[in-house]
Amino acid sequence: MSKLKVLLTGGAGFVGSHTAKILFRSGYKVIIIDNFSSGASKHPYGKFYKIDLKEEKEIIKILKKEKPDVIMHFAAFIIVSESIENPFKYYENNVGNTIKLISAMKEVGIKNFIFSSSAAVYGITEKNPIPETAELRPINPYGESKAMVEKMLKDMAQAKELNYIALRYFNVAGADPEGELGPSYLQPTHLIIRALKAAKGELPYLEIYGTDYPTPDGTCIRDYVHVMDVAYAHVLAMKYLLQNTNSNVLNCGYGKGFSVKEVIETVKKVTQREFKVIEGKRRPGDPPVLVADNRKIKQILKWKPKYNFLETIIQHTWQWLKKT
Ligand SMILES: NC(=O)c1ccc[n+]([C@@H]2O[C@H](COP(=O)([O-])OP(=O)(O)OC[C@H]3O[C@@H](n4cnc5c(N)ncnc54)[C@H](O)[C@@H]3O)[C@@H](O)[C@H]2O)c1
Repeated sequence: MSKLKVLLTGGAGFVGSHTAKILFRSGYKVIIIDNFSSGASKHPYGKFYKIDLKEEKEIIKILKKEKPDVIMHFAAFIIVSESIENPFKYYENNVGNTIKLISAMKEVGIKNFIFSSSAAVYGITEKNPIPETAELRPINPYGESKAMVEKMLKDMAQAKELNYIALRYFNVAGADPEGELGPSYLQPTHLIIRALKAAKGELPYLEIYGTDYPTPDGTCIRDYVHVMDVAYAHVLAMKYLLQNTNSNVLNCGYGKGFSVKEVIETVKKVTQREFKVIEGKRRPGDPPVLVADNRKIKQILKWKPKYNFLETIIQHTWQWLKKT
């Protein structure tokens, strides 16, 4: 039997590169489409096409040539604050280019799709941990762009135009435990990376965005999920989709939240370094608490996280940052 072929858009990026490595090591053929817009770089875990998804005709040519069995769609813009300042950029890439990709899939006859969705689709919820059934009320254009794609996928699956799994990741963090891959963002906006950069002396201080949230210590609470566990969820989602053709939407998080202040304390403990912390104002677009109800992914995909410890996540990111 020939090997299954998986095409990853955004496979040079943070989550995509770790997923490529796991797929490659598991014996799948990996094809990557990426325009390298976010500082991502090439790695040895797939055949690369450097191209923007907006080039629909070229994308059709690649799909016809490679004939992948499954497409995992990671490519997107991901910075919430930027999406508030420049919403069109986000709708154009995250929604417009996803429509182009799906149009190309339809043209070539590819039906299996795994979508990188986000906890940002939920917005401010009454309930935490958040079940997948919670109403989607995104509070920023980034989250809105993901919710729009989810809606389209749901309608298309109902009409049997495609089969999909949307994984709603919570805060993806950490790095390859082997130290080879890691977050390569040009503008690191994620808390753990910024705190570690402050510890390393690459940032003069770390700013906390808001200390007056309705949480025990006043800072936002997030569910930090190790990138290797997220990557592995894609392998399980793909197997499930190929066996069942049942479309589904699944939270991907550990079900445990940490506040910004707790993360900072753990970064100081892991690195054994002190750094300056400034208590600043809230940023627009940040819900106070986002924690996953992960019962569905555990039940349906039999997902068993391996790295669900904040210290491990920080340790692996630190190991990567010290090297780069
Ligand atoms: N990192 C997180 O915490 C997180 C949380 C929830 C959801 N997500 C989603 O996961 C996916 C991957 O995120 P990431 O953290 O790896 O980001 P990333 O920026 O590292 O990766 C995105 C990749 O897509 C590529 N890309 C973007 N637009 C493209 C286009 N038009 N054509 C071709 N390539 C393009 C970029 O060059 C980059 O390599 C995104 O869809 C993001 O919305 C991430």
